[in-house]
Amino acid sequence: MSHDLDPPPDLDALLQQTWRELVRGVPDERHGFHWPVVATVDERGAPQARVCVLRSVSEGGGQLTFQTDRRSPKVRELRAEPRLSLTFHDRRRRLQLRVCGAAEVHLEGPVFDAGWSRCGLGGRRSYLGEHEPSSRSDDWSPNLPPHLVGSAPTRDESEVGRARFAVVEVAIHSMDLLVLARSGHRRVRYTRREAGGWGAEWLQP
Ligand SMILES: Cc1cc2nc3c(=O)[nH]c(=O)nc-3n(C[C@H](O)[C@H](O)[C@H](O)COP(=O)(O)O)c2cc1C
Repeated sequence: MSHDLDPPPDLDALLQQTWRELVRGVPDERHGFHWPVVATVDERGAPQARVCVLRSVSEGGGQLTFQTDRRSPKVRELRAEPRLSLTFHDRRRRLQLRVCGAAEVHLEGPVFDAGWSRCGLGGRRSYLGEHEPSSRSDDWSPNLPPHLVGSAPTRDESEVGRARFAVVEVAIHSMDLLVLARSGHRRVRYTRREAGGWGAEWLQP
């Protein structure tokens, strides 16, 4: 993404570039957008934020997904309050993107199936622990069957994880992009219109 902001970039072109960076962030672990911080609200109304890997982006649908353990607190939180925000930071490109939207938790169906088939054996291992994530533990435990500590499951073994897996699909309502530049920072907010497409406005950084 270009930081040459003088003359000001075209708002539509900047939106396209933002989507392009999100799409790049899916496969590229070195791209900061691969590692958003996902913020939810818990049962007591307190904020909860954690890193989750960006798994897919649909520019046309205005959606993105991440995956998680369906037994995790974040899934409970999102069922009670689907509104969430994701903060992306790419240090190299000097970009911060704050996404607000509403989550749908998929436990079956095409979005779930696509997520599970995308998930490699190393990723599937995360869903093979018998204990609920975030539950109290008696020791320094990785919550894995002992033979899988330090090794990946076979494809057959990994299928146990399917019943614990979830794909969280986020319908994006707004995106707030902050572009850091030596000449001065710039900021723009895109808001999804009911009729489709995106409204755009410059913000003071
Ligand atoms: C680099 C990194 C990537 C992570 N990716 C995910 C992820 O994709 N999905 C997930 O559920 N947790 C992921 N985690 C773990 C979460 O940050 C969090 O600790 C865990 O999901 C428990 O969150 P919860 O108790 O709020 O549900 C990741 C953690 C790190 C440090």
